[in-house]
This record gives sequence, structure tokens and C-alpha cells, in this order.
Amino acid sequence: MKNILVTGGAGFIGSHLVRLLVNKYPQYHIVNMDVLTYAGNLENLKDIEHKENYTFVKCDICDLKKVKTIFNEYNIDSVIHLAAESHVDRSIEDPFSFAQTNVMGTLSLLQAAKEYWIDNYSGKLFYHVSTDEVYGSLGDDGFFTETTKYDPHSPYSASKASSDHFVRAFADTYGLPIVISNCSNNYGSYQFPEKLIPLFINNIINNKPLPVYGKGENVRDWLFVNDHARAIDVIFHKGKLGDTYNIGGFNEWKNIDLIKVIIKTVDRMLAREEGSSEKLITYVTDRAGHDLRYAIDSSKLKNELGWEPSLQFEEGVEKTVKWYLDNKEWMDRVTSGDYQEYYKKTYN
Ligand code: NAD
Ligand code: TYD
Repeated sequence: MKNILVTGGAGFIGSHLVRLLVNKYPQYHIVNMDVLTYAGNLENLKDIEHKENYTFVKCDICDLKKVKTIFNEYNIDSVIHLAAESHVDRSIEDPFSFAQTNVMGTLSLLQAAKEYWIDNYSGKLFYHVSTDEVYGSLGDDGFFTETTKYDPHSPYSASKASSDHFVRAFADTYGLPIVISNCSNNYGSYQFPEKLIPLFINNIINNKPLPVYGKGENVRDWLFVNDHARAIDVIFHKGKLGDTYNIGGFNEWKNIDLIKVIIKTVDRMLAREEGSSEKLITYVTDRAGHDLRYAIDSSKLKNELGWEPSLQFEEGVEKTVKWYLDNKEWMDRVTSGDYQEYYKKTYN
């Protein structure tokens, strides 16, 4: 029996993780704590919302007083912390809200966990979900390992790096049992269409321009979101206390090449001439401080805990494109903001 507080469970990765935990571990109680920003959508969890081992609580992670009452009310013994502002372009527009949520929010959760668990840390775990972007940018070769020096460039990655440091500081200073994972770019269903892949799928469907930053030469390492959720499950149960694990797919793509694969797949599924939507590609001004290349070495996770990605990229792209085509209503509701009505109706 465990009482796990998952923060940010109504977001993209969080909703996949909550679904996995609720279905796989009926003996655990999963408490999903989310404030439901524009990126939080409870419709992502419709299929499990009535399960007995699942509870949703609307709460801002920065609200320390309320967070403390939630630890108390649900006798929380583990935290898997995903809640964050997560989009780099938004962080360039408004760095303050990233520092507030990602740094101060993480600090408030750490403080609540420490206070609630301090008399007995046994069986407790604070699992912090982070990103490979804290390591900065690679040149043409090499990989990020768990010992790569932090070198964040965007306000988003700087705020995530700072939150990672606070988590380690709580372990070193107060003995808090922690684990951290740093994952590469995720793709899959339920991703908010501001991120590259769902944005481009939606724009191709609607014959809208595809804004490629710079020359499209930046490289990202893409992992299917369900494989990230599986990795979190493995690290949560088997990870060594105090350790860091890198999660990635050994699956690097130059943006422009990835975009062409997406275009081809959407065109085929819409019975358009394959590649005909390439005419929508529009090169636009590069993102400020745009990291050139991310690549994760996840061999520690494979060698020590036996995790590997389950899906080949081609299969992942097929599944992902098909999901967005089959769930146009989800996309329409998300892009129009209608999904925010769902909370009011369902949870009042
Ligand atoms: P997302 O933006 O889709 O979801 C974030 C969730 O956090 C939303 O449900 C939102 O409502 C919630 N939230 C935001 N501020 C909150 C607050 N103050 N209090 C409570 N809830 C709040 O993000 P995502 O892509 O699912 O990312 C989840 C986590 O994984 C983040 O910590 C991110 O840094 C990390 N990560 C993401 C990726 C990726 O490719 N998306 C890769 C590696 C790591
Ligand atoms: P994104 O999905 O925002 O993830 P991240 O910045 O965290 O890696 O972007 C992935 C890549 O795609 C990144 O190199 C920026 C680029 N990009 C575009 O070229 N155009 C776009 O409209 C977006 C959103 C991203």
C-alpha cells in the first residue's frame, strides 16, 4: 500500500503516468494534485477518473499551507513531482512564472514532504521529474550523462536546473530520500499543441503554415511518452536513493527531418499526396538562445534497472499521428479552451 502524490497529473506526461499507476497498482492510492493551468486537462484522464484508487485535488504547488493539508489528509508517503511550466517559448516571454512554479513550487513541496516525514524517512520517497535541457547544448557529437555539468540556457531550463539543485540540497541537508530523472523530448497523445509535434500535426490538418525555427537544424532526442512513464515506474520502485537517472531513446532527429516524417505520415493518413504538405513549411526567426543539440545517454538506466524504450520511433509516430487524427475533438476543445469547462462540470 502506498499513498502517492503525483503533481501535474492532468498534463501531458503526468496523465500518462497517472493512468499507468492507477491501472497497474490497484493497491496504491494515487492523488493527482494539479492547479489546471492552460496545460492541465482533466479530460486526459476521463477513463480512470472514477477508479477507487484515484483522487483529484485542485491545488497550486506554491500554496504551501494547502500542500501541507493534502499530505496530512491523504497520509502521503511518496511524491512524484511533474507539475511545471514546461514550454521554452513561454519562458522567454515570461520567465517569472517559470521561477515561481518550477523553483518556488518545488521548494514548497520539498518543505511539506520534509515536515511531514521528518520523524521517519523510512519508506518515503520524493521523486523529482526533470529534463535533459538542464545540461545545456551539445555540439555535433557526445551525449549527456548523469555527471554532465549543468549549463542551462533558457529561463525554462534554468528554472528546472534550480529545482534539481533544491531537491539535492534537501537530500544533503535534511536527509530527504530523493531520486531525480532527466528525460529527453517526449511525444505521444494528449500533448498540448504548442509543442512541435502536435502543433505541426494540427497545422498540417488545417493547411496552416509550419513555423520552423532558424534552419531547422537543431537536434532533439525523442522518446514515446508511455516509455517515459514506464521509466518513472521502474525508477520509483527500483532506483537507488539519492541517484539521478537519464532517460532517453537514443533517437536523435534534426527538426527538419522529423518534420518531414510527420508531414509524410499525416499526408498518407489523410489520403493526400505524400509530402504535398511540405509546401506549408515556413522558416521563421530562430528561437532566442536555441540549444543546438540534445542527446541522452540512458545506459545507466538500462544497465542498472533494466529499462529500455519499448517502441521503435516509426511505430511511435504512426500511433501518435493516428491518435491526433482520431481525436480531433480533443484538439478542437484544447485549442478553443473549451476543455476548461470540463473541470467545472465534473468536479464543480
Ligand atoms: P505539461 O505542461 O503538459 O503539464 C504540466 C502540468 O502541471 C499541467 O497539468 C499543469 O496544470 C500543472 N501545473 C503547472 N503549474 C502548476 C502549479 N503551480 N501547481 C500545480 N500544478 C501545476 O508538462 P509535461 O510536458 O507533461 O511535463 C511534465 C514534467 O516533465 C515537467 O516537470 C517537465 O519539466 C518534465 N519534462 C517534460 C518533457 C517533455 O518533453 N514534455 C521532457 C522531460 C521532462
Ligand atoms: P519543443 O517541442 O518546443 O521542445 P523543446 O524546445 O523543449 O525541445 O521544440 C522542439 C524543437 O522544435 C526545438 O528545437 C524548437 C523547434 N520548434 C520549431 O522549429 N517550431 C515550433 O513552432 C516549435 C514549437 C518548436
